[in-house]
Amino acid sequence: MTNINLDKVLLQKILHYGDIGIHVINNQRKTIIYNEVMADLEGLSIKQVMDKDILEIFPGLNENTSTLIKVLHDGESILNTTQSYFNFKGKKITTINSTIPIYDEGNIIAALEIANNITHIKDLSDQVIDLQNELSTSKSSNKYKNTLFKRYNFNDIIGEDPTMSLAKKIAKKASYSTSSVLIYGDTGTGKELLAQSIHYGGKRSHKPFIAQNCAAIPETLLEGILFGTEKGGFTGAVEREGIFEQANSGTLMLDEINSMSLPLQAKILRVLQEGYIRRVGGTKDIPIDVRIIATTNEEPYISINKGTLRKDLFFRLNVIYIQIPPLMERKRDILVLTDHFINKFNHELGKKIKNVSEDVIHSFMQYSWPGNVRELGNVIEGAMNIVGNEDSVLKQEDFISSIYIMQDRPLKNAMIHQNKLKSLPDILESMEKKIILDALNNNKHNISRTAEELGIKRQTLQHKLKKYNV
Ligand SMILES: Nc1ncnc2c1ncn2[C@@H]1O[C@H](COP(=O)(O)OP(=O)(O)OP(=O)(O)O)[C@@H](O)[C@H]1O
Ligand SMILES: [Mg+2]
Repeated sequence: MTNINLDKVLLQKILHYGDIGIHVINNQRKTIIYNEVMADLEGLSIKQVMDKDILEIFPGLNENTSTLIKVLHDGESILNTTQSYFNFKGKKITTINSTIPIYDEGNIIAALEIANNITHIKDLSDQVIDLQNELSTSKSSNKYKNTLFKRYNFNDIIGEDPTMSLAKKIAKKASYSTSSVLIYGDTGTGKELLAQSIHYGGKRSHKPFIAQNCAAIPETLLEGILFGTEKGGFTGAVEREGIFEQANSGTLMLDEINSMSLPLQAKILRVLQEGYIRRVGGTKDIPIDVRIIATTNEEPYISINKGTLRKDLFFRLNVIYIQIPPLMERKRDILVLTDHFINKFNHELGKKIKNVSEDVIHSFMQYSWPGNVRELGNVIEGAMNIVGNEDSVLKQEDFISSIYIMQDRPLKNAMIHQNKLKSLPDILESMEKKIILDALNNNKHNISRTAEELGIKRQTLQHKLKKYNV
C-alpha cells in the first residue's frame, strides 16, 4: 500500500471509530469530510452532505451564522463554543464545537469543525438550574424547606479537637460579615456543613444559599450555569438566569474551585471586583451582590504552584480562611463523632447502643479514614443495621461490611501477621485482598475507579472481588 493510501485508510478508520463529529469543507464551501458521528448528530446521512455546498444542506444558515463559512472567511479559529439546536430529525442536540481554518502556504484551503456531543450533560445541567430556580422562587411557599435539603447550622458541627474549635470559631465570626471565605479540607470533612452554617447563621440566612460544584462540568457549560445565557448568535442559546443571579443577595458556594479552568477563575475574580455579571452572549451588566464561599480539597499554595488556582483569585477569596484537618488527625473527634452517630442511628433505627467495644475503638484509631466524617457516619450506620435490637455495645462482628477498617494495619505488620500462613500464594492472596479492600475504600466502593487505580480491568477486579468474597 502506498503511504497516501495508508493515510487515507487510517483516516477513514479514525473517523469511523471516534466519538467526535467531524465536518470539513473546502474553500468552495463544499463538504469534503463528514463522518458518521456528525451525520448522527445532525440527523443527516453522509451521502446527503458530501460534495454539497453547506448552505444548500443547511438552508437555515447564512454566511454570518455558519461557523464553517465564518472561519473560511476570517481565517480565525472559533474554539469551544456551546451550540444547541434541533437537528434534521427534530432532536435537540447540544455540542461543544471548535472550528479551525486549514492553511496551505498561507492560503486557506479548508475549514474543519469538530463537535463533541454533550446533550446529556447539558440536559442534566438545565435540570439542575431549573430545580434551583424553582427552589429559590418557592421559598415563600416553604414547599421544599424541610424536605429536599437539610439546612445545617453551627449546632450540627460536632467536634472537640482544638483545630475544629478554631475552625468553628472563625466560621462563626465569618457569619457576621459578607467577606469571601475559603475553606480547605479533604473530602467528607464537613466543608459544606461549615459553609451552610456560615450562611444560615448570618444576616443572609433568609436569602438563597446555592452550592455549585466546579469540577466535572465542561468549562463552557459551567460558564452558562454561573452567569446565565442570553438568546442568540450561532450558539443557539436560550435566555436563562445563571446561579449568580439566583443567589443574588445570598451566598454562592463554589465547590472545588481549584478544578475550575483558569479563564473562568479570571471571570469570577472580575465579578467579585466589579460587582456585576454579564450573561454569556449578553451585553448588559447586571449588578450582583453575592457572598462567595469557595472550597478546595487541596492546600491552596500547592494548587497555586501547580497552576490550577489563580493567585489573584486566591487572594481575593482568602479574606477568611478556614482549614478543616482530616479526621485521622483529630483522634478525639473520632470518639465524639462515634457517639454522635450512635445517638443519631439509635434514634433512626430504634436501637439501644451505648458505646463501641475496646477493640473497635482501637481499630478506629488505627484506621486512616480516607472518606473522613462521611465515612465514619456510613460505617456506623452499617454496623447499627447489623447489631441486635437489644444489644448495647457495637462489636467487631457488627462491622462486617467495613471489614477493611478492622484489617487496616500498616502493610509491614500485616506481612508479619500473614507469615503465620503457610504458603507463598496464601500470603500473596491475602495481601492482594488487603490492597484491593484499601483501594475500594479509597474510591468509595466505586468499582471502575478502583480498577483504574489498581491498573487492572474492571472485569478482573470483579472476578477478584468474587474470589475473595468481598
Ligand atoms: N464535624 C461534623 N459533625 C457532624 N457531621 C459532620 C461533621 N463533618 C462532616 N459531617 C457529616 O459528614 C458528611 C459530609 O460532610 P460535607 O458534605 O459537609 O463534607 P465535604 O467536605 O463538603 O465533602 P466533599 O468534599 O466530599 O464534598 C455530611 O453528612 C455531614 O453532615
Ligand atoms: Mg462538599
